[in-house]
Parts: sequence; C-alpha cells; structure tokens
Amino acid sequence: MSTKGTYYITTPIYYPSSNLHIGHTYCTVMADAMARFKRLSGYDVRFLTGTDEHGQKIQTLAEAKGVSPQAYVDEVVDGIKKLWATMEISYDDFIRTTEPRHVERVQKIFMKMYENGDIYKGEYEGLYCTPCESFWTESQLVNGCCPDCGRPVTPAKEEAYFFKLSKYADKLLELFETNPEFLQPESRRNEMVSFIKQGLDDLCISRSTFDWGIPVPIDEKHVIYVWLDALTNYITALGYPDEPELYEKYWPANVHLVGKEIVRFHSIIWPAMLMSAGLPLPKKVLGHGWLLLGGEKVSKSKAAKGADVVDPVVLIDRYGVDALKYFLLREYTFGQDGVFTNEVMLKRMNYDLANDLGNLVSRTVSMIEKYNGGVVPAGDGVKPDAIDEELRAIAVGAAAKVEEQMDKFAFNMALEEIWVLVRRANKYIDEKAPWVLAKDPEKKPELDAVLKNLAEAIRIISILIYPFMHTTSKEIRKQMGLWYSDVVWEDAFEFEMMCGEQVKKGDAIFPRLDIEKELEELAEIGKKAAGAASGEPESIPLELKPEIEYDDFAKIDFRVGLIEKAEKHPKADKLLVFQVKMGTERRQVISGVAEDFSPEEMVGKKVIVVANLKPRQLRGMESKGMLLFADNGKRCEIVTTIAPDGEVVS
Ligand code: ME8
Ligand code: MG
Repeated sequence: MSTKGTYYITTPIYYPSSNLHIGHTYCTVMADAMARFKRLSGYDVRFLTGTDEHGQKIQTLAEAKGVSPQAYVDEVVDGIKKLWATMEISYDDFIRTTEPRHVERVQKIFMKMYENGDIYKGEYEGLYCTPCESFWTESQLVNGCCPDCGRPVTPAKEEAYFFKLSKYADKLLELFETNPEFLQPESRRNEMVSFIKQGLDDLCISRSTFDWGIPVPIDEKHVIYVWLDALTNYITALGYPDEPELYEKYWPANVHLVGKEIVRFHSIIWPAMLMSAGLPLPKKVLGHGWLLLGGEKVSKSKAAKGADVVDPVVLIDRYGVDALKYFLLREYTFGQDGVFTNEVMLKRMNYDLANDLGNLVSRTVSMIEKYNGGVVPAGDGVKPDAIDEELRAIAVGAAAKVEEQMDKFAFNMALEEIWVLVRRANKYIDEKAPWVLAKDPEKKPELDAVLKNLAEAIRIISILIYPFMHTTSKEIRKQMGLWYSDVVWEDAFEFEMMCGEQVKKGDAIFPRLDIEKELEELAEIGKKAAGAASGEPESIPLELKPEIEYDDFAKIDFRVGLIEKAEKHPKADKLLVFQVKMGTERRQVISGVAEDFSPEEMVGKKVIVVANLKPRQLRGMESKGMLLFADNGKRCEIVTTIAPDGEVVS
C-alpha cells in the first residue's frame, strides 16, 4: 500500500490514422518515466493512454483504403499496442474511443451537459481543419490556413449542436488567474488567457456530414464532435459515471501531459465541459514542445521525408528501447521544441551510454573480478580521504536532486544529475588508479575501499535510472550481484549497503556505435521510407463531377492549336481572349484563366482545343471552341502538346 496518495497521469489519446512516430513516442516515454518515478517513490499511480478513433479523417482514410473505419483503426491500434509492449510502457489502462464502455459514457456525459442547458441546436458555418479536427473562423486563420498545423482548411456549413462555451469564459479566466499551476509552461498560459479575452465563441459539437462517430443521443442524424468524444476519455476510462470506483479514487487527474498544439483543447474546452457537467477539474495541464525535423514538426503526414529516421520501431530494433528512451528524455528541454536528427541521437547514445555509463560498469566489474575474486569487498579498512568523501556526497545527494527536477518535469536535468555521479565515478577510477594500488599488497585495504565505493555508486545509479531505463537498471544490478533484490528508492540515499555480492561480467550494456556507419545506414532507411510514403496512399479521393459515359467523351473533337495572340477581355477581369491557329483556320477562343496566366506567357504555346464546341458569346465577344486547362488542386494548368515545334497540323 502506498503512503503518498494517488497520482493519475495521462497522455493524449493518439489518432490511429497511421503508425505513430517519434513525437508520440516522446510524449509517452515522458509519461511512462513519470509514472515509474512516482510508483517508485511511493504513490498509488494510474497511467492512462489510448487512441482517438472517430472523426472525418479516419473515415476518409478508411474509404480510400476500401475498408471499414473499424477495420482500419483495429489494424493501426494493433501496431500501437505492439510498440508500447516492446517499449514496456507501464500504462494501467489503454482506452479506445470505439469501445462500448467509452461510447455509452460519452453519451451520458453529453446528456448531463444538455440537461444543464449548455447544449443547443443551431447552424454552423465556418472553416474546418480535418487533420486537426478543429473548427476555425476566418479571422483565426494564419495565412489562410489552420493556425495549429498550417494546413489548408475547408468551408463547412451544417445544422449542428453547440456547447455554450462562451458562458464559461469568466470562470475560465478565474481558473487561470487563481491557479497559476493549472497550465504550464507559463508561455502557454498567457496564450490561453489572451485567447479567452478575445472572446470565446460557442463550440460546434456535432457533425452530420459523415457518420464515423458516437451518435448524439437526442438526434441520431448527428455524431458527437470528435474532440468532445476524445476529451472525456480521461474520465470514461475511470468508469465515470456508471462504475465510479476508479473515478472516485483517481479523479481529478494530477497531470494531463499533452503537446503544445492541443493545450487549448485541454485547458479551455475540457475544463468548460467539466464545469458544465459539474465535475472537478484536472490539477494540471502540461504542454510539451515539438520534435522538429528540419524546421517542421514531425507529423504523421510528413514523417517520412528525409534521411532522418523517425520510426521508433526501426530505432528500437537497432539501438534498443533504453537507448531511445534515454535519448528522448535527456536531449530535449520540457516545454520547448527540439530538433531531431539521427546524429544528435547517435552521439547521445555513444557518449553518455556506451562511454560514460557502460564503461563505468564494465571497468568496475572487471576490477572486482580481477582484484577481489569477483566479490564486493567490505572496504572498511581505511579512513576515507577527500576524494572518497566527494564521491560519496555526490552519490547520496543525487536522489534528492532527481526528485527536485522530476517535480518540474525536467527529465533532462534529472538525468544530468545522475550523470554528474556517473562521470564523477569514472573520474574517481582515474584518480585512484586501482591498477597501481593492486601492485602493492600493502595497499590492499585501500584498493578494497575503492572497489567498494564504486560498487555503491553503481548500486545508487541503478536505482536512480530505474524510472527512465528499467531494463538497463536490472542488467546493471545483475552484473553487480544485486539482481535478486527489488529496487527501493530510499536505498539511493544510503552508501553502506554492499558487501559480499558476487559480481558477474555480462555483455556491454550499451555497445559502442560506429556513428559514420550508422548515419549512412539510417539515411538509406530514411530515404526508402520517404520513397514508400510518397508512392503510397495518404490518398484522399478527389471530389469529382458525376461519371460520364465513353459515348459522351467520344463526341468531343480535340485538335492541336497554336496561340498566335492573347489579350485581356476588355469587359471581364477573369477572361483572356485568344487567337488560335488550327491547320490554316484561325479563330477566337475565350477562357476564364486571367487569374492564373498573363496574356504574354500564353503566346506561342501549342494547346489542345475542343474544336467542335458550340460557339457562344462571352461579354459581347464570340468564343468558338475551348482550350483545355486542368485543375491541379490549387490553380489551372494549361494542357499543352509535347510534339516537337513546327507546323501545326490537324
Ligand atoms: O491530437 N513532437 O492526436 P495526435 C512532439 N487525438 N510530440 C508530438 C509530435 C511532435 N512532432 N507529434 C505528435 C491528437 N506529438 C488527438 C488528441 S486527446 C483527448 C486527443 C504528440 O495523434 C504530442 O503529445 O495528433 C501531441 O499532442 C500528440 O502526439 C498528438 O497526437
Ligand atoms: Mg496532431
């Protein structure tokens, strides 16, 4: 039984739109390290993760693949669960929003908000970002695109249900003002406060243009907006409202750990929903920064682009789970963005793990084997000198420093505190030069003390690294003859615990990497993945006019024409007037492409003409036929011929 109370930590529930990448891994690894740290320090921990499986994006992807949305997500979620199993992520529950337990509870929560008078029917007109499943108004866009992810938005207009978010603006401001701990880092808090102060619109919380979602209980034509559905996972997974045992024990959550792009949902919309349902708010929302590839956020659609490998499965395969976790936790500063490259990763792994930690353990075990028959000596035959005292002080002082850094979610600094000890212990070996002491039998008590002090330091290190790299911790403890005993956090504050353990050399805990060679091989893998990704469907079917029959098509007479002259239509901004030569015939054709082309650039182009189109008058000028242009998704492209220059024949 724990003495320190409960600790409930959550990750975002990820979209199973495709396999997860190193960014999701980063967030989950942080949550796992924190959960393990809290368990080790005596809390009753609950750690929740899962998948957010509804919404338009998933439905569209499933359609493109020709499978049902459920079959689509089942496959991806399978891979996600395998990844977390490989990484031994210590979650207590994995919630999928398609599970009946979630679906039923979301509907009950919706009804609570409805019965409290906070949900009404209206009409939505605005802009929708499908990748983010977010609604925006024109004024919120940045460069005409989604302010969160920078991708294009599409207009949406539909009858919909709304949540009276505006009603909670004052209460939300009060939350941020009276509870500065609620949202961190502080920069995010300021952003949210000014977002609220700009005025909160009511939130559209239903969609009726697709059906992959949880039905609105009072109106089956609508599905619940995917974010409303998703945010409730933090309490539906605890059984709220019908099986409230876990809910009563663990809610409110201590921490919702989320990426900075979804802080708004967690610190404004989610609290307002809870206020509406009359439930307590989470204690803290923590927004972490992004891993960047080049200047851009690593994302599902951009994941495989260059030479840097961001697929955690590949990285784990080559370097192991603990090396990847160590890198992610040590390299990046919580709350800030950080650049990911294979090179920074490999250097971290080599310098800190293979060189510093790996060397310390293998040198110490070898020396105990060589100089004392593999048994940790008592080492109490000499009085400690200043160097011994310093090592000891750093060793027994490290745990408190780690605790202090972990309280701030400063994983990198917590690990740095541990590495201060690792490096000090390595230096201690060099200073004490046990190989010199070993030559003089009279120095045996001194040699024993050195071996014993190193063993103690490594024992403490094995405890301190446990939350971050539990497998390595166990491997070290096995080599030190401690493997049978449990890791107890309090033991990290003690220095006099070892005597008589039988050490046993094992494989290098982290093999040294040939960085040049690894970089080359990773670049190969990265390029292949990028190639595969670009040749593969992230395929969304085009929106087209209705299908036509071959007979319709066969009625068209296409001819090659040469544009001899082009000018603007005197009465219409959008039209260009062309003089086109086909064979020896010359005729006038008018096209609505003045926004995409200047007249000058068109002269001399050989184009395809629909030659038998019925002539028509366009703003007082005749157009006889039509030039072929095609929509590339953004603008018109001209359809030209690839025949060699020369006489135009028809
Ligand atoms: O937003 N760097 O899911 P999602 C760091 N389903 N972290 C990253 C990252 C990067 N480049 N890319 C992703 C959703 N993440 C919703 C959440 S919660 C009720 C619903 C991490 O699949 C980061 O934690 O887009 C981010 O917030 C999360 O993955 C978003 O995952
Ligand atoms: Mg996202």
